[in-house]
Amino acid sequence: MVDKQSIHGEWSSRFVFILAATGSAVGLGNIWKFPYITGENGGGAFVLIYLLCIAIIGMPIMIAEIMLGRRGKQSPINTMRELAIEAQTSKVWQIIGIMGVFTGLLILSYYSVVGGWTLAYIYFMGTGTFSSVASSDTVKATFGGLVSSPEQLIMWHTIFMAMTMSLVAGGVKHGLEKGIKFLMPALVILLLVLVGYAMTLPTFAKGIHFLFYFDPSKLNTASVLVAMGHAFFTLSLGMGAIMVYGAYLPKKTSIIEATTVIVAADTVIALLAGIAIFPVVFNHGLTASAGTSLVFQSLPLSFAHISGGIIFGTIFFILLAIAAWTSALSILEPIVSWVIESLKLSRLTATIVCGVLIWALGFLSAFSFNILGDFKPLAFTNIEKFAGMNLFALFDFLTSNILLPLGGLLMAIFVGWFMRREHVADELDLPQEHILYQLWHFLLRFITPVGITIVFLHAVGLLTF
Ligand code: PHE
Repeated sequence: MVDKQSIHGEWSSRFVFILAATGSAVGLGNIWKFPYITGENGGGAFVLIYLLCIAIIGMPIMIAEIMLGRRGKQSPINTMRELAIEAQTSKVWQIIGIMGVFTGLLILSYYSVVGGWTLAYIYFMGTGTFSSVASSDTVKATFGGLVSSPEQLIMWHTIFMAMTMSLVAGGVKHGLEKGIKFLMPALVILLLVLVGYAMTLPTFAKGIHFLFYFDPSKLNTASVLVAMGHAFFTLSLGMGAIMVYGAYLPKKTSIIEATTVIVAADTVIALLAGIAIFPVVFNHGLTASAGTSLVFQSLPLSFAHISGGIIFGTIFFILLAIAAWTSALSILEPIVSWVIESLKLSRLTATIVCGVLIWALGFLSAFSFNILGDFKPLAFTNIEKFAGMNLFALFDFLTSNILLPLGGLLMAIFVGWFMRREHVADELDLPQEHILYQLWHFLLRFITPVGITIVFLHAVGLLTF
């Protein structure tokens, strides 16, 4: 098992794997969610807690997930079956892969709708919808007009899904790798251009202050939990996206080193996104408001009123679309690889089957903002937090707060408690006595599962702080 290659192919190099995994990690989560939750939760103090969560939950799980993928070399479901057999334990562990497929279907169905928004905003920005006369009413009306129109939402969602499917259909080397090699450098360049632009604004210092000012008084238990949950989502952990990318990783690569680079890149890009965004937002005297409206309303309004804003605004939405696109690839790939393996379909057919299914499922999210706006599936619970959720919010909640942490928890338990240590050490190419191995194994067996359990219990509302 150890020496064979995945039937889906392999990344050409360790560098390409790092680019691909970073592409998966860096997404909508980094560019609008991270800056906003950082600001809301006390800036610097929150960043510190977030980094801690990344280090003690995110990194150990990422190492475990890549390791599982590389050892199994198949789609997450078949990888887990094979590794369960190897560990002489129950095949029930396949549930990690099965849940991952289900989670992926749900995540991509709404992620693609938001991906569609980013495309729409490239169009709006590029065609001058937000010219210098744009008022906050214009900006609100543009966003409102988009989300209230099922046809528009479906159209942009369709384009985004087609973009995602086109690269996945090309396979590991000729689709994913080709796209990622071009898109990731573009993403970094665009981000640096935007950071450079933000530095020229008079509000640059204010933006930095907002993002990094250490104010422990704003920190509470809830922000610690937010930080932990986000560490999970932002690193794409718990659903097999990183596992399947690991399956295409050549044997010679050090998983621990690669993980360190990916995690560092994801974090630096999230911080740079914050540095690029806040000076722009503050430049128009706006405050950093909630997630969705920060990027799709406050930001366009500010851009409209700064010289060069239209160009840089367009660049911003291209950046956001690329980030979402390279993440979407990694959500579709584990599902497609499984369909190829189990139904023996060609990659093209498998991509079309899975893509169309997710595309159709996406209608539910798209309709959540208009014709299904009043459909609140959990209204009967009478729990304020759940009752008001439309389908879009429910899918997001269910996947980010329940399914991803649960998947990660199961992975930590499987690797920490059920896999043979010699197999793990062999795959990591690290002797069991090595201090890094010991540290990682300890975190994975004890600290990580407890951490995730706290997030999980909080998310389902069993624990109230
Ligand atoms: N990490 C991605 C982001 O930050 C989201 C994602 C979650 C991608 C799960 C793949 C799997 O937007």
